[in-house]
Amino acid sequence: MELLEMMKTRRSIRTYSDEKVEKEKLDKIAEAGIYAPNPGGRQGTKIIILDDQKLIEKIGIINANCENRHWGGRGVSADQPSIIDDLSIKSGFYGCPALGIVCVPKDRKSTVNAIGSAFVCAQNMTLEAMDLGISSCIVGRAEATYEHFEIQELWEKWGIDEHYLPMVFVCLGYIRGAYPQIKPRNEGRIIYIDET
Ligand SMILES: Cc1cc2nc3c(=O)[nH]c(=O)nc-3n(C[C@H](O)[C@H](O)[C@H](O)COP(=O)(O)O)c2cc1C
Repeated sequence: MELLEMMKTRRSIRTYSDEKVEKEKLDKIAEAGIYAPNPGGRQGTKIIILDDQKLIEKIGIINANCENRHWGGRGVSADQPSIIDDLSIKSGFYGCPALGIVCVPKDRKSTVNAIGSAFVCAQNMTLEAMDLGISSCIVGRAEATYEHFEIQELWEKWGIDEHYLPMVFVCLGYIRGAYPQIKPRNEGRIIYIDET
């Protein structure tokens, strides 16, 4: 598929089948992430790939409940309901079988560049995933999720440098059900300036 067409048809998917994502595909998705633009050429982000569905579910439940989800009236998606749209969804990772965790250095975590660099990694990952037939959803609240002591214990268990903190999650998996339609774009979002 042409790149623009892929960008236009990509959707955030929140319904996953239990089918595992192949290791080769996860490798490529992570590789796409580390080739993202990065501030100062520092390549400061690290990407953790987790493919233990039970553990993902456990962290996802913490993620779903670590901030107020009772916002009411905030319709995120009718065809792929989010945890805000449907309060019966338990995990903020929607049952995905694989998860990317994009981490940034602790001392830079509150800078715009740290946030930006994590999210461009995540975007590269979603596009590579789509090219490989894998659905995805970018999920926030990573810092709040990390504050939960159980996640910090995992960090220790996995031997992750404590200097790195999660900034954004990328749910990955095969879609369950039909792929949703393209969402129409709001009018007036592109402004051309012609001063000639
Ligand atoms: C910075 C950012 C944070 C997001 N956080 C969440 C999230 O926590 N949970 C979720 O279900 N979707 C999250 N999303 C996905 C958006 O809800 C989704 O991109 C938006 O509704 C547009 O839908 P589409 O991606 O299907 O076009 C996030 C997207 C971005 C860019």
